Amino acid sequence: MKMQLYYTATIQEYRQFEHLIWIRLVAPSLARTARPGQFAMISQRQTHSLDPLPRSAVFFAGADPNSGTLELLIDPRDPTLTRLVDLPEGTILDLGVPSVNTCTINPTTQTLLLAGVGSTLPALLFLARRYAGKLNVSLLMAGDDGFVPPPFLLPATVEVQISSTGASALFDLLTTTTDQNPLRWADQIVLGLPSLFVSRAASLIRTTRLRWDHGLVQVILAGSLPCGLGICRVCQIETRQGWQRRCVEGPVFDLRDLRLPA
Ligand code: FES
Repeated sequence: MKMQLYYTATIQEYRQFEHLIWIRLVAPSLARTARPGQFAMISQRQTHSLDPLPRSAVFFAGADPNSGTLELLIDPRDPTLTRLVDLPEGTILDLGVPSVNTCTINPTTQTLLLAGVGSTLPALLFLARRYAGKLNVSLLMAGDDGFVPPPFLLPATVEVQISSTGASALFDLLTTTTDQNPLRWADQIVLGLPSLFVSRAASLIRTTRLRWDHGLVQVILAGSLPCGLGICRVCQIETRQGWQRRCVEGPVFDLRDLRLPA
């Protein structure tokens, strides 16, 4: 079983945007250690029940150690997240936070490409905000109408490209044929994708880059995480090291390590 650290967090602010809900939590000790690519298994605190309640897996969208706050960005249409919808400010949440592989940015990296869709977008936003003004960061996002994160989460120094014509439009953004296409020149690339898109992303990189070494492309894999503890094995993916669980050995993998369908 995977060890989790448990935290209590209080909802300080809750705002609904088009298809997204932004929640700011007060959780000082977690805000000091939270990293992009990390997720929490969240449930509402129950004072009158000892039953283990189902939890929702949510990637962090930001953390500020100075204010002791964490941010979440969730799509209320996701059936696994409905228990986090319409919670009043002041609600106390329980967070189980597994110690997982998170995104690693090399000290030599100067240009960083982030591209993704869906439930992993908050993790990419967290990365963009953490490295804004320190690195040249491009952030490419695609989704359906209304998925766009609120502007205050998008740092001014990050080049942002958005398509609202569906998740697969991400590949249109990635294949723009200009010399400035960050897919060609980025020192590191972090993708946030469901496993369905991974083969397509790998072929695109193979045809775009002359060299593709380990460390060039990390992928934060989206998908359901029912237990988040390494028990149910619903989240397995095939890698060069065998079958691995996204909630234990992931959720961030080097794209070269994934065994992709031919
Ligand atoms: S979510 Fe159950 S093993 Fe990963």
